[in-house]
Amino acid sequence: MRRLLFAANWKTQLGPDDARAYLKLFRTRYNRHEDRDVWFFPPAVSVEAAAQAARDRADLLVGIQDIYWEPKGAFTGTVSAPLALQAGARATLIGHSERRHVFGETDDDTRRKMGAALAGGLVPVLCVGETLAERDAGHTLAVVVRQLSAALGSLDAAALSRVVVAYEPVWAIGTGRNATPQDAAAVHREIRGWLQGRGAPVPGLRVLYGGSVNAKNAAALLAERELDGVLVGGASLDAEGWAQLVQTAAA
Ligand code: PGA
Repeated sequence: MRRLLFAANWKTQLGPDDARAYLKLFRTRYNRHEDRDVWFFPPAVSVEAAAQAARDRADLLVGIQDIYWEPKGAFTGTVSAPLALQAGARATLIGHSERRHVFGETDDDTRRKMGAALAGGLVPVLCVGETLAERDAGHTLAVVVRQLSAALGSLDAAALSRVVVAYEPVWAIGTGRNATPQDAAAVHREIRGWLQGRGAPVPGLRVLYGGSVNAKNAAALLAERELDGVLVGGASLDAEGWAQLVQTAAA
């Protein structure tokens, strides 16, 4: 059975009270489907509230949007993998486009965070993707492979089997533009090939697509077998709309 992953990235929205209200409503609108998982990435302050609100639903999981690589110490303003785990997170985004392009996160940072996530027991969701200039210059695959190699190049097959990859072209995030299903699938095929070439097990490999995914385009994207799910920002902020998207996109 093809098992799809629907991941919601709330970015800098929905505090603890909002997260509780959101999950309460979402749970009344979305009943568990055996063939899909729904993950939520609230801002760090809302992780515990969201995790509590989702705790007795095995198909719902809460993650954090970013971690620092040291487990503890004097690193003001950061959250480490063990702290996120204690708050109820079970996954973490790594190298999201906004971390890379707004905050200057480097490929080397993603490598360290990857190691910290795996050591700390969080499922890493590595985000990769090219800018518009890189795409126009024909460098999409080179950029994606560089980002994969930097973050995952030193992992063995067992570690790779725990990693989720999200392909999110930078020019598609929050812009209303998205890759065609065929363009996305072509990049996904390369990513899957790269992972398999390093021994990642074929069943269980998950490559998500992200960038302006919404209720209108999700079904067409997910009709591509190369896509194992979606990572969604704007269209995940409304509990009812997100429930509807998860409910119908893979019908
Ligand atoms: P978007 O964001 O759906 O609002 O484009 C996706 C993301 O940044 O993960």
